[in-house]
Amino acid sequence: MAKPVTSFTCQECGATHRKWAGRCDACGAWNSLVEETPLSQGPGRGLGAAKGRTVPLSALSTEEPPPPRAQSGLAEFDRVLGGGLVPGSALLVGGDPGIGKSTLLLQAAAQFAKRGIEAIYISGEEASAQVRMRAQRLGLADAPVRLGAETALRDILTTLDAERPDLAVIDSIQTLWSDTVESAPGSVSQVRAAAHELVTFAKRRGVAVILVGHVTKEGQIAGPRVVEHMVDTVLYFEGERGHQFRILRAVKNRFGPADEIGVFEMTGGGLAEVANPSALFLSERGQPSPGSAVFAGIEGTRPVLTEIQALVAPSTLASPRRTVVGLDSGRVSTILAVLESRCGIPFTGLDVFLNVAGGMRVMEPAADLAIAAALLSAREDSALPAECVSFGEISLSGALRPVAQAENRLKEAQKLGFSQAIIPAPQKIDGAGGMRLDRIADLTGFVGEVFGA
Ligand code: TYD
Ligand code: MG
Repeated sequence: MAKPVTSFTCQECGATHRKWAGRCDACGAWNSLVEETPLSQGPGRGLGAAKGRTVPLSALSTEEPPPPRAQSGLAEFDRVLGGGLVPGSALLVGGDPGIGKSTLLLQAAAQFAKRGIEAIYISGEEASAQVRMRAQRLGLADAPVRLGAETALRDILTTLDAERPDLAVIDSIQTLWSDTVESAPGSVSQVRAAAHELVTFAKRRGVAVILVGHVTKEGQIAGPRVVEHMVDTVLYFEGERGHQFRILRAVKNRFGPADEIGVFEMTGGGLAEVANPSALFLSERGQPSPGSAVFAGIEGTRPVLTEIQALVAPSTLASPRRTVVGLDSGRVSTILAVLESRCGIPFTGLDVFLNVAGGMRVMEPAADLAIAAALLSAREDSALPAECVSFGEISLSGALRPVAQAENRLKEAQKLGFSQAIIPAPQKIDGAGGMRLDRIADLTGFVGEVFGA
């Protein structure tokens, strides 16, 4: 076979040259030529030679039904996956160190194994004996899950190829090293190479692979971010360290809805599922107090009620504090600006603190009205009615815009004992289910109605 002819391609203009030169003749760029070996010589063999030929789309629909999803029996986990684990899919589970990723995935692997799905849990951070100790603590010591402690990618792939499980958990992607890459484990190139090999393996062998990745709050540590686009599903495990609640959130899912959440509680015996998150998030709510507003939100496919808490205090600083936890700080600034310019309620000289109770994160624009309500209630030092929830998006003019799934929000609120809802005037409702509706056209109207200003 003829020796492949290498050529030199200018990285600036794309011109190819037979010989290397310091300067590209075509565009005049200096030092831009890079040697490249063409991928193939001569005519290609076509898709048919490599793997099955192309097929008409219509032929596929009846030929192969989608493979059944595997359920772990952990309802919250299965829900976030979109109804169960798809065979041969690749997942990334990211989160802060110590948030409970290893605990969650060991529990999930054990549950899958108990239901006859062969699962292997490979730890690069702990010895098998330590993983076993953890399993004992979780009451899962007798689960038929297989354990491995390994960091060499080549050895992991050989093991997986020999054992052919249905599911492999790799904890974590940052500890792996591939001998084809000359940098330290945890570096971007190592993480990318290891993830690429494992994802390819998952697709080729039909083994579902779950990669665990550590992220910092800033997302700056080399790692999961570069893997996100390679995998089918990206889940983030979130929560405040001081709180026992943990939220598993799907940020990308090729096989299910994104934005779906699963709620867990970290207990002495591992993660316990929380079937009714609204009740949990509102459980710490005492008597109605100024600065507290209940938001009827939607997370993924289900309604979740959360308490938004605000505190407004005189500031000694030249530029007062705006401390926002669990909400989009950009939206909070916008709402403050709308309150100042459209309603004439200034927040200058005041520190503003906003928080979502229970360590929950609320990013929906529908939370605007509840945020405004909490801010106003805190500023006026006057509590909102205890039995009242709200939702609605605020536009820059101060007008309220309708939001999606209003009926589901109302139904959930009613289930939890609320009887009144403040909603945008243009919102269409098919049956309020006995809730008293307070329709508000704009923020000024809201201020007048609720605080008599
Ligand atoms: P871990 O799963 O090791 O976190 P990650 O893999 O994300 O780094 O969880 C560590 C924390 O969880 C640790 O602070 C102890 C706590 N924990 C419990 O509270 N209960 C338990 O049953 C277990 C196993 C851990
Ligand atoms: Mg861990």
